[in-house]
Amino acid sequence: MKFQITAMAVLAGFVFSLNAADSFKPYVKKPDNNGVHLNAHGAGVMHHDGKYYLYGEHKIAGRAGNKAHVGVHCYSSEDLYNWKDEGIALKVVEKEGHDIEKGCIIERPKVIYNEMNDNFVMWFHLELKGQGYSAARTGLAVSDNPTGEFEYIRSFRPNAGQWPIHFPKKWQKPISEKKFNKLKEESDWDYWLTLLEKGIVLRRDFKEGQMSRDMTVFVDDNGKAYHIHSSEDNSTLHISELTDDYQDFTGRYTRARPGGYNEAPALCKYEGSYYLIASGCSGWAPNTARSFRASNIMGEWKALGNPCKGKNPHNDIGSIKTFGGQSTYILPVEGKRNAFIAMFDVWRPSNQIDSRYMWLPAKIKDNEIVVEWQTEWDLSYFEE
Ligand code: GAL
Repeated sequence: MKFQITAMAVLAGFVFSLNAADSFKPYVKKPDNNGVHLNAHGAGVMHHDGKYYLYGEHKIAGRAGNKAHVGVHCYSSEDLYNWKDEGIALKVVEKEGHDIEKGCIIERPKVIYNEMNDNFVMWFHLELKGQGYSAARTGLAVSDNPTGEFEYIRSFRPNAGQWPIHFPKKWQKPISEKKFNKLKEESDWDYWLTLLEKGIVLRRDFKEGQMSRDMTVFVDDNGKAYHIHSSEDNSTLHISELTDDYQDFTGRYTRARPGGYNEAPALCKYEGSYYLIASGCSGWAPNTARSFRASNIMGEWKALGNPCKGKNPHNDIGSIKTFGGQSTYILPVEGKRNAFIAMFDVWRPSNQIDSRYMWLPAKIKDNEIVVEWQTEWDLSYFEE
């Protein structure tokens, strides 16, 4: 019996190595070491001790998959092509009223390694069960191991009682929800947009903390970490500095592209400049990606336009709708210069477990980030 099991395991390993992937095929189903399509949506990747760790939303079949029923799934890889299932890194909780109760919404989890505490810090977008997308919180979990299990710590709206840097003194006046609603009702769209740019939502949320929906985290060369999220009713991105243990906000933050309606932020750095890719706000439906550059992460962020080039032959969708997808992360390839993988999700809200991934090569050319469609590619792309 024991011999049979060992023989089977050896055979399975052999079959797997015969099937080992040596290229990326964006949009095509992506099997893990068990042959199961990766279940890590809205993902982020961390490189640690020679391995890449992928974390993403675990989805279930059908419409129910739009809520969190399982948690955050983790995979590991040494070559970026082949991924080993490492199980659920953060589990939803079966207790009624718990922040991460089964049936809540957990999106876009991102993990970073904290050197000071030698631990792993996960941030994610959290919506409380039964409240749609109104909670707009960021959630925190930590673990001593990259694969977890992560311990849930807390969730909140960040930067309560703090004005962002570069926010003019004359605008620094909190406004009540009642006054906010009245103003909104009375304004036409153009006027409302000027109020948005001047921080009307920021002022409404000043006391209770700023909204935090689509998000990512970024660790700079000097070890400082930043939490980047859609705030102010999704109209404005906030870039916030994290404390040295990466488990809290320092209160220093900036508004990037006020009134720009940017979501799905993904960030990288090359030769001292920061590059940001984002989407517009159209829910699960694709729209045109946009990119920005800054020489200081706290801004100014200059608009660069659509970073995508080419067409996805699987769905016939070109760069105008991001090949059918939405950005989630930009991964620097270890050991290579000017080599990034721009990661996108192709959402299927009626059956998210079948949502696809598009991992495409990204390079900085003439101070712009360029993401070129490739039907099949490998890391030698970066040697050209
Ligand atoms: C998208 C967002 C997704 C998810 C979705 C819900 O705009 O990027 O992460 O929140 O909306 O409709």
